[in-house]
Amino acid sequence: MIKIAILGYGTIGSGVVEVLRTNQESIAKRAGSEIQVKYILDLRDFPGDPMEDKVIHDYDVIANDPEVQVVVEAMGGVEPAYTFVKRALLAGKNVTTSNKALVAKHGAELIAIAKEQSINFMFEASVGGGIPIIRPLNSSLTADEIEEITGILNGTTNYMLSKMTFEGSEFDDVLKDAQSRGYAEADPTADIEGYDACRKIAILTSLVCGQQVDFEEIYTEGITKITATDIKYAKAMGRVIKLLATSRKTAEGYCAIVAPFMLSQQHPLYSVNDVFNAIFVHGNVLGDAMFYGSGAGKLPTASAVVADIVDIVKHLHKNILISWSSKKMELTDSKKAKSRFFVRTRNGADTVTAAFGDVEWIEAPGVTGEMGFLTEMMSEEEYEKKAEGLQHILQMIRVV
Ligand code: HSE
Repeated sequence: MIKIAILGYGTIGSGVVEVLRTNQESIAKRAGSEIQVKYILDLRDFPGDPMEDKVIHDYDVIANDPEVQVVVEAMGGVEPAYTFVKRALLAGKNVTTSNKALVAKHGAELIAIAKEQSINFMFEASVGGGIPIIRPLNSSLTADEIEEITGILNGTTNYMLSKMTFEGSEFDDVLKDAQSRGYAEADPTADIEGYDACRKIAILTSLVCGQQVDFEEIYTEGITKITATDIKYAKAMGRVIKLLATSRKTAEGYCAIVAPFMLSQQHPLYSVNDVFNAIFVHGNVLGDAMFYGSGAGKLPTASAVVADIVDIVKHLHKNILISWSSKKMELTDSKKAKSRFFVRTRNGADTVTAAFGDVEWIEAPGVTGEMGFLTEMMSEEEYEKKAEGLQHILQMIRVV
């Protein structure tokens, strides 16, 4: 019998309890041992909940109980999650977490402590919700140099953009809907401003390069400036707007960016809608691979957390090597990255042509008093220089 403690009885913590209960037998068979929740740490009480008697308010009880072999961190945020997780690892307790903020900031250190202690720190649920991506990168795609990872890594914004595209819904209404479904972060700013996707691509890039990628250094734009008019133009072009998080290995180093992009129908992520996430991976010997599935929500995320618990139980006292050192990886300048650019402007055609040369004009049904155009492929810095020639830019969206 393996005894576990869950930190946080919110969406994910209660999902873990539900998954363990729903699939109790098959999980025990796969883990080779029964798994029992001994404690649930939360500030609140849960009168009437079947787990009511497991709820405690003092972390010391967990840290000092030698029977607890696995700690599930489902609190979110960096503190006190970091302090609790570090203390658990130093006390020889395995940890699994769904917390991308924690992993992006302290992953390298926590991985190193787990290694020293011959235990495991796992974080499958921190990226892509229920989609296996951390384990495949760490254990399956080890023959490759990963040259590109491009993902739709935030379920909330993908849900919102899909609804805005297919149902013409308003930004605020779809955000409320996503929150009520348990997709959004406690503070949804992290979703809509791209910070959540930024932390996730930082984690994936750190795993791929084996060094610490600081999320603060990743150029990040969210979806708050995307309007119904942009969506009309995208439709007129047969494209969709998606929040992409992408990192590429170039001859100069790794380059990462998070921003809304207009995707053509040929793009592998074009059809990824609603709360689904997908991660496109290109390896130098593998070629292309895609990982697709439920990217957020209670049970999908809990499924990944419980899979970590099973893996931990199968590897008790044996560290599974994760190559992610604290040595910093300097990212290359994102201004050198190339793409085409879609621009909306109130400037006249002559001014646009004088600044950008020949462009492809785009008309969107029902949109008047402005013009839309697509540039040739160019770097961000070239775009910025040319855009200085226009005074009235209403919008710019990268195009792939
Ligand atoms: N708020 C996140 C999302 C939850 O919408 O993707 C999963 O990390």
